[in-house]
Order: sequence, then structure tokens, then C-alpha cells
Amino acid sequence: MKDNCCIFLCFTVETSDISAREATQIPLMNEPTYYITTPIYYVNAEPHIGSSYTTIMCDILRRYHDLLGFKTYFLTGTDEHGEKIFREAQAKGRDVRQMVDEISQTFRSLWPQLNITNNDFIRTTEKRHIEVVQQILQKTMDSGDIYEAEYGGNYCVACERYYSDRDVEANPGVCPIHESKLEFIKEKNYFFRLRKYQDWLREKIESEPGFLQPEQYRREVLSLLREPLEDLCISRPAERLHWGIPLPFDKNYVTYVWYDALVNYVSALEYPDGEKFKTFWPNATHMIAKDILRQHAVYWPCMLKAAGIDCFKRLRVHGYWTAGGKKISKSLGNALDPRDEVARYGLDVFRYFLAREMSFGADGDYNAQALVARNNAELANDLGNLLSRVTAMIEKYCGGVMPDVQNPTEEDTALLTQLQGLADALPDHLENTTVHVFLEKVMQVVAATNRYVTSQAPWTLMKAGNIERVSTVLAVTSQALCGFGQLLYPVMPEKMAALLAAYGQGKPERLTLAPVTPGTKIEPAKALFPQLELAEKPEAASAPVADAKVEEKPKPPVAPQKPEIEFDDFAKVDLRVATVLEAERVPKTDKLLRLTVDIGFETRQIVAGIAEHYTPEQMIGRQIVVVANLAPRKLRGLTSQGMLLASRSGGNVFVLDPNAQSLPGSEVS
Ligand code: MSP
Repeated sequence: MKDNCCIFLCFTVETSDISAREATQIPLMNEPTYYITTPIYYVNAEPHIGSSYTTIMCDILRRYHDLLGFKTYFLTGTDEHGEKIFREAQAKGRDVRQMVDEISQTFRSLWPQLNITNNDFIRTTEKRHIEVVQQILQKTMDSGDIYEAEYGGNYCVACERYYSDRDVEANPGVCPIHESKLEFIKEKNYFFRLRKYQDWLREKIESEPGFLQPEQYRREVLSLLREPLEDLCISRPAERLHWGIPLPFDKNYVTYVWYDALVNYVSALEYPDGEKFKTFWPNATHMIAKDILRQHAVYWPCMLKAAGIDCFKRLRVHGYWTAGGKKISKSLGNALDPRDEVARYGLDVFRYFLAREMSFGADGDYNAQALVARNNAELANDLGNLLSRVTAMIEKYCGGVMPDVQNPTEEDTALLTQLQGLADALPDHLENTTVHVFLEKVMQVVAATNRYVTSQAPWTLMKAGNIERVSTVLAVTSQALCGFGQLLYPVMPEKMAALLAAYGQGKPERLTLAPVTPGTKIEPAKALFPQLELAEKPEAASAPVADAKVEEKPKPPVAPQKPEIEFDDFAKVDLRVATVLEAERVPKTDKLLRLTVDIGFETRQIVAGIAEHYTPEQMIGRQIVVVANLAPRKLRGLTSQGMLLASRSGGNVFVLDPNAQSLPGSEVS
């Protein structure tokens, strides 16, 4: 506790002359640079949830490293050569170059729509890439690690690789990934001496546990390396396939697409002499899914070793997004378009859901109900509502100006210590790619902050005239909220920028957890995360998982319309915006909450039948719409001076939110 007092002290002192990092004890990681890459995606199909997940996770890692002061570089791109792409163009009767240009462009233009901040987008058909591939091939040939030989084997066009009998033991003759029939192909080709590097690689993976994670994939690769590896066929005869990079030492062949594709990670950095290569390659992190583990964990390190290039620093491997247990993929016909999901649920909610829901390394089923539930519970009720409540109280109790901390108590310090704990834990979560665990921890501190507000009850302190405590509680809570704004910014950049803007702060450049300067003008925040309902099936979308579940849901009966009324009848109803100041359960009933609301011209008591759907904590600080001129009536002995508006949908009740920060008493018409 003692150590943490200094976190708190900087709350009350002028911080302008202390660097934010010093003031708040943010740990510095040792490495000054960070290079993160996605796989380069095939251009035979458009982007879907799977490729979006990897790319969003890389973006999140990149942004977190930015916040921690790293110099970062983020690469993605498209993989455009090879038999699979060529056959796809033939099947569609299209010119292959036109097809790859077009689909590559769909990836390039999708990423900004998902707020992806890649520095570069590499295409393997670009000159800068082709030259580096040829250079590395020549170097490897010259050192004797490439040789010519004849080989026959079972081949999968979709994987663009041969499978040995051992690989397909469980289901002979069938590709274990694509479940398609393998073709027997025999031809003269060039081979890379993969086997020569097997022992070196095994020792590396054994002695550097951090190189390949999560652990289950490290073990999988080590077990693969216990059996002798076969050398890798790295060419295709040009007479069979011309769509590839010509081997520099034999124009009758093109380069095997995987050898070509892996080189993108260094060609984009302008290997060998580029500044970017020197700066970023020593701290390269590759992120992939488990489908391309062997290529990244075995082929690529050995290719680099043979070419005399240092190995990348980390390989991080995630599982599959599935639909009904099957991998989501275009070829299995169950792909979800990320643009549809973003249109339905909002970009930041989508990004948060992907990062929070999937345990990195394991498979996760994509499920719209889970997305809606997480939004409603964690984002709307816990975080968004906390922001609305606290900024509304600052408006009401402190004249809309950031109050100061005076005489902090143990409870105040304890909350800020939890916040600091999150920042302290962040580097390890980044190293281990356990962002999903980190987000869970952040949400636990959000929940703790809600409990803190409820237990400190600034509305009661205000009634008792204890302005000093009201100020302190609201200032501490605001520091926590702005901390969440920074800690969640990499995941939800737009929403967290809006949160921070309510406190007069810009987008965070560094993680500081610094308190908001007392005296700052605070804007009452509108609902940051509206409650969501499951989207109805859109006309042309292909979203089998979400939609199937939506369809299963029985449609609630729609109440018939009431008899028509004249405008004058409606005009008699006085609808007003109100802010909930207090809320508590009415004893001996499950249904009723007693609310004290500020209706602009007075404070009122309203008894509302919403206790089965909202906790008192969720209501405090919330803006609602009330019928102000309804004759009072008694419910369970309590007088209700008005009625709040809510919609009923199926078994749910949603309190209407004016969804804009109107002043209490504003008329609704
Ligand atoms: N072109 C190769 C990669 C070459 S990298 C030098 C390739 N392309 S791909 O288009 O098939 O992309 C595979 C990658 O897309 C996976 O490793 C993963 O990053 C992402 N995903 C595709 N489908 C996925 C899921 N269903 N779930 C999670 N990620 C998935 O392989």
C-alpha cells in the first residue's frame, strides 16, 4: 500500500513537470522496436472473420506497443502466386493478373474500414518482393542448400504441398486440412535442404520457450521435429505453372508459392540493406492461425538460417473461428463478411468481441448472441453507464468542472492501485498474447469502480453536504475512467477517444494513467455503447451462424395499435428528460425499483417495474424519459410521481435512452 501512495500523491500535486511515465510508474519493456506481421492472405477469396481476427489482433498489439513507447511497424498484404490462385482464375474464366489486382484491392480497402493501422501492404507480385525472393534463392543455391532431384508424392493444390503417407495416416489419400482428394504428382524439381537444419531448429525451440507460443503449438512442432524431416520441394516446372517467380538459376521453373510468400516479411523491410530491415527485423513477431504452423515454425526459420539471416523473434499462433464447430472459411461456404458484422453491431464492439471472446490459441465459435451479451453487460452497462453516471454527477454536483482530490481514504487508494496493477501487467500479456485475459482483468476493475461509486454514494454525501468527499470520489472515479480509456484504446480506438474527449483529453499517445487536471471542463457523456439486440437477417448477407440463431428465436407477439388520437391529445402528455440520482430495490418485491430523479424543475420519486432487468447501480446516473404530468399513484405504499418510458421486446425491457446529453427537464416531443 505504501508504494502506491505515490500514485495517489501525484493526484494532488501539479504533474506538468513530471514525465507521465515517471509519475505513474508505467514499466518500460526492454525492446525499443516492435515489428508485427499478419500472414499475407490468398487472393482467391475475399476477407472474412478469420482474416479480420488476425489483422485486428495485430493492430491491437501494435497499438499497445505504441502506448508503451515502442517504435512500431505493422505489415500485412496479399499472397498472389501459385497453383491455387491460377486455377481459381481459370475456373472463373478470368485473367489471373486482373483477378489478383481486384481481390488484393478488397483487402487493402477493407483494413481502413476496420481501423487497421498497417504501415505497409505488400503484394507478392510487386517488383520489390520478386527481387528479394530471387536474391535469397540465389544465396541459398550458392551455399549448396538447394539441389535438383526427381520426386513423386501426394499433393494438395489448396495447400500447395506434398503430404507423406505418415501425414495422412488417419485418412489416406485425403488432405487433412481441406478434406479434398490428393493428386499424385511426379516430376523433376529443386529441393531445399530442410533436414540439414532440423537439429538446430529443435534446439532453438527447446531452449527458447518464448519463441513459439502458445505452448500447445510449441509442443506440436517439437513432436514434429522428433521425426526426420523431408527436404522441401521449392520449385514448380514452368510448363505446368507459369504463375510464379522464376528461379534465378533455372528459368524453366517458378518458385514454390510458400517459399515465395514467406520472404514477404523481409522483402517489405527492404532486406538486406534497408533501414527498416535493420531497425525492425530484430524484433519481428509473426502472427498466424494454426493452419500454417508448419510453414512458419519449420520452413521459415530454416530458410532464414540457410540464407544467413537472423531468425524472427516470436511466432504467435491462434486457433480457428468456427461456425457450428467447422472452421470458418470461404471454401467451406460459411464465411461471414466483417463489413456486415460492423454494420450491425458497430466497429469497436466487433473489435472488442473478437479480442475478448477468443482465448488466444484455442478455437472459438463465432456467435452473435455472445457478442450482443458482451456488449450489453460489459460495455453498455458496466463501462458506458459508469461514464454517463460519473460525468452527469460532475455536471450536477461540481458545475461540470473536474474536482480535486482531498484527503484520500484507503478505498480511494485501493481502487487506483488496481488500476496501476493493470498497467503493470500489460507487458506480460502482450508478450504472451493473452490480450483476452488482460481485457477480462480491465473489466474486473471496471466492475470494482462501479462498486466503489455505489458504496461511496456521492449522492448521499451531497445530501449530507460533504462536498470534499463528493469531489474526491468523483475525481478518483474519473481517473479510473480515463485509465480505462487509455487501457482499452488499442482495442476500441473510436469509443475510447470519445470517452477521453468527455474529459477534455485527446487520443492517448502514451499510457500514463494520469489524473485529469482539476478545473478541466467536463462534458456529460452520452451513452457510449447503446444496448444491442440481435440483428434481423439482412437481405443479402451470408451470416449463417448469427442468422440461424436469430431465426430460431420465436417472434414475440406484436401488440395491436391503440385507437387513433388527435394531436391535442398527445400534446397533453408532458415528456421530459430526467437524470437518475438514486436507485434502490423496493423491499419485498422482485419487480420494483425506487428511483429519485432530477426532472429539471424538481426532484421526484418514481417507482418503476424494471428491477428484473436493471440493477440499481445500472440506473444511477442514467438519463431517462419520463411522463412528468401523470397523476401520482401508489405502488407498494410508495408514491410514484411519474412514469419512465421503456420498450418491451420479447421478455426484455429496455429503458429508453434519450441518447444525447440533454439537460434534465428538456422536453421530449
Ligand atoms: N497465403 C497464406 C499465408 C502466407 S504467409 C507468408 C495463407 N493465406 S490464407 O488466406 O489462407 O490465410 C490464412 C490465415 O487467415 C490464417 O493463418 C489466419 O491468420 C487467418 N484465418 C483464416 N481463416 C481463419 C479462421 N476461420 N479462424 C481464424 N483465423 C483464420 O494461408
